Amino acid sequence: MKTKNRNVLITGGTGILGSAVTKAYLAKGNSVAVTYLFDNEVERFKQHNPELSDDVTFLFANVTDEAEVQNTIQDFITQFGHIDILVNIVGGFIGGIPTAELEEERWDFMMNLNLKSVYLCCKITIPHMTERGYGKIVNVSARAGLKGEAGLSAYCVSKGGVRTLTESLAAEVMDSGINVNCIMPSIMDTPMNREAMPDADHSRWVKPEDVAKVIYFLTSDDSAIINGAAIPVYGRA
Ligand SMILES: NC(=O)c1ccc[n+]([C@@H]2O[C@H](COP(=O)([O-])OP(=O)(O)OC[C@H]3O[C@@H](n4cnc5c(N)ncnc54)[C@H](OP(=O)(O)O)[C@@H]3O)[C@@H](O)[C@H]2O)c1
Repeated sequence: MKTKNRNVLITGGTGILGSAVTKAYLAKGNSVAVTYLFDNEVERFKQHNPELSDDVTFLFANVTDEAEVQNTIQDFITQFGHIDILVNIVGGFIGGIPTAELEEERWDFMMNLNLKSVYLCCKITIPHMTERGYGKIVNVSARAGLKGEAGLSAYCVSKGGVRTLTESLAAEVMDSGINVNCIMPSIMDTPMNREAMPDADHSRWVKPEDVAKVIYFLTSDDSAIINGAAIPVYGRA
């Protein structure tokens, strides 16, 4: 799969899935920058991935703020020249609260973190990609975005929004040499999920490294005919 020597920006690239994705691109000789919000994220990434630390560029970004995203994309372009690939991984989870009891600020937090972040990063990156007639974008939705579930309204709506946003974007850029797709993970095998569900059968959960392979494929030239897709990456979860 050809993505060698591409310039790649990964939001949330210091997180669990983000680290696996970062490794996948670096392993193939791409130039990679990851966004971080807090300095301790960078330190944690360096501690867990000492062999990669020198190869990754860390860019500060609060990806829920348009002006900050503008600055981050500009920093990226100043350092790398142009942007080929954007992987939007920043996201989080709030669950277990019925909608009638969900505070407005938690609702807004989910929408901003999971959905507005993707809108802003795509909005600001796409004009640069359009200018060069080339670009690959992968967003992270979730299986929970396919159907509303009790106690998960804000999460389901925000991740469902990522899927429909991806479809709109793909339709808008299909003649500009840009592909926009999303993936829908279910439960991934992460330390946080193991801690939260110690009695579950962890062998059924999908490894972040395997999700990273799908993301990588979706940004390779081998998947150029895939646009606007929402790819299930549930494995047996
Ligand atoms: N884990 C699962 O089972 C699962 C299932 C379905 C979908 N997903 C989705 O997969 C993606 C990655 O999940 P993960 O488990 O790898 O999560 P993670 O380890 O928590 O990674 C998320 C990353 O985003 C960063 N971040 C949070 N808010 C930010 C902001 N405002 N601006 C910039 N960066 C910010 C986080 O920083 P901090 O570390 O400082 O918070 C972290 O580096 C998310 O979109 C998640 O919703 C995960």
